[in-house]
Amino acid sequence: MEIQLWRKILDPYKQAVEELTVKFNYIKKEYQDGGMYSPIEQVTGRVKKISSIMEKAQRKGVNLDDIKNIEAKVEDIAGIRIICQFEEDIETVVEIIRKRTDLEIKLEKDYINFPKKSGYRSYHIIAYYTVETVDGAKKLEVELQIRTLAMNFWSTIEHSLQYKYKGNIPEEIRERLLRAANAVGALDGEMSSVRDEIMDAQNVNREMARIVSDILSNIENLYRLANKREIIKIQNEFFKIYSSGDIELLEEFGEQLDVLAENYKAQSYGD
Ligand code: GTP
Ligand code: MG
Repeated sequence: MEIQLWRKILDPYKQAVEELTVKFNYIKKEYQDGGMYSPIEQVTGRVKKISSIMEKAQRKGVNLDDIKNIEAKVEDIAGIRIICQFEEDIETVVEIIRKRTDLEIKLEKDYINFPKKSGYRSYHIIAYYTVETVDGAKKLEVELQIRTLAMNFWSTIEHSLQYKYKGNIPEEIRERLLRAANAVGALDGEMSSVRDEIMDAQNVNREMARIVSDILSNIENLYRLANKREIIKIQNEFFKIYSSGDIELLEEFGEQLDVLAENYKAQSYGD
């Protein structure tokens, strides 16, 4: 296989990685723009290096001239990594992926509930993804790795050690890594227990934002309908309650304002 030809083979994979990175970043953006907590914290992607593809193909007993077979056997030529804050977010992200029409799942590997011997934890999905090129549509395999920040920390360190020891990590270090993996599991568990607190706080913020925006739009409408003195009175009342930070008072005020606005509207229609 000519080395130059690899570039032609790998270009669509590069396109797939770039497109999917953009798409998953947009999911994060959509959550955030909606004032919601995003199950996706960070997205990264990479195309496997030619040397690594050849090494893996050889390990899997695939002839290096048989490019179709290499593409079929090396499932992670295109790799997308989705990092979550909390372990619970992984399931949410997996559900999002299952529902997507641009990704057709080939197989899932649950190394979260079934960690590898090394201690490695992550959720893997191998999926088909189609890119449009000038030569037509190309259906490729991509590997999606979904894991928490803590799991990612562990696997990054462990990967460096694999590299340093060329895959033969000394027994004593392997044991320590396994202990570190257990500590990471415990950390993710502890973090999950504070997650509810974070979600509650975010829900209150969102509710507050909704009430305030309703009040502001009512006041804006009243500018056209009510007299100036009354508007000023309402505005001052609003500022007072707003600065108290009492969400229940604010909600009550919002309801009263709704009624007032309705009355004015009814009056103006009657004119
Ligand atoms: P390779 O492990 O890549 O040869 O492929 P495989 O076909 O056996 O798939 P597997 O699901 O075992 O691994 C896919 C990918 O998960 C790897 O390329 C790594 O990125 C990651 N991975 C799997 N096991 C480990 C591990 O023990 N440590 C680390 N750091 N990463 C792992
Ligand atoms: Mg493996």
